[in-house]
Amino acid sequence: MSQNTSGIPRNIAMTSIPSLAFLNGQFLPMAEARISVLDRGFLFADGIYEVVAVVRGVLVDCPGHLARLQRSLREIRITPPISLDELPTLMRELIAREQLDEGLVYLQCTRGAHPQRAFHFPDPAQTTPTFVMFAQRGQLLHNPLAETGVKVITLPDIRWRRRDIKSTALLASVLGKQAATEAGAFEAWMVEDGYVTEGTSSTACIITADDVLITRPLSQDVLDSITRRAVFRLAREAGLPVSQRAFTPQEAYAAREAFTASATALIMPIVDIDGHRIGDGTPGPRTRWLRQRYLQLACSENPEIAEPS
Ligand SMILES: Cc1ncc(COP(=O)(O)O)c(C=O)c1O
Repeated sequence: MSQNTSGIPRNIAMTSIPSLAFLNGQFLPMAEARISVLDRGFLFADGIYEVVAVVRGVLVDCPGHLARLQRSLREIRITPPISLDELPTLMRELIAREQLDEGLVYLQCTRGAHPQRAFHFPDPAQTTPTFVMFAQRGQLLHNPLAETGVKVITLPDIRWRRRDIKSTALLASVLGKQAATEAGAFEAWMVEDGYVTEGTSSTACIITADDVLITRPLSQDVLDSITRRAVFRLAREAGLPVSQRAFTPQEAYAAREAFTASATALIMPIVDIDGHRIGDGTPGPRTRWLRQRYLQLACSENPEIAEPS
């Protein structure tokens, strides 16, 4: 795994610190973008977020990510302070201002700051939600980890029960990713009632010995991953059957291939799960093809890679 200057392994090589933030309608130098201590995002993780990959300056699968952002906002009853229709234009402006060729755009919206810290929703007339965006450079296309493949560990899933909402309440995922990092792994797959739910920040997929791609069906147990939708479209193109069902860690150990799917790691081959070698211990041909095809479509400036929901 690549190392940063402090020697801590990191998953994706983020090569720059964002210089700008878009905060409630304004582009500001990062150092001047201030949010109140009373912001409910800070106090209660009362907010949601999105991450959209940027490849060759193009937003990948942006409509899917923005539709999910809208859904997350609706589910937790936040009315954003800006029109979501303006977002693609603002995101492109951010990319241009940051001269970003490859990396990600991060978006977050919280219920805002109210003078009184109280659990229930504040009066919306007195509280403006906070909307933030920034862009971060990162190596997506030529991620060296995709060449070697990555390790995954499994852990109990200790998260809340509405994982379909892309909530900023990510402590369980933070702890899971840290456990993976300390174990020299890229990701932790979380296990509930004996079955894998998903990764801390990715969808879990395996390809069985008889060539079926398996991933868990959508429910409140997992996030409706936009990359997962793209995987389905690509699998159809490749003639690879897909079965949406839960699978056990034991099935994963015996898989022919395995991979994680997410906006920033894209389709990332897995070569080891809990110390069990997957396939021959190198990225499998089907996973390689899926990754290459996904990138090919992303680079051809086709923003509509994923299946419509
Ligand atoms: C828990 C979880 N599952 C799956 C994903 C993958 O979603 P997407 O492909 O939309 O990035 C993420 C991404 O952050 C995630 O946090």
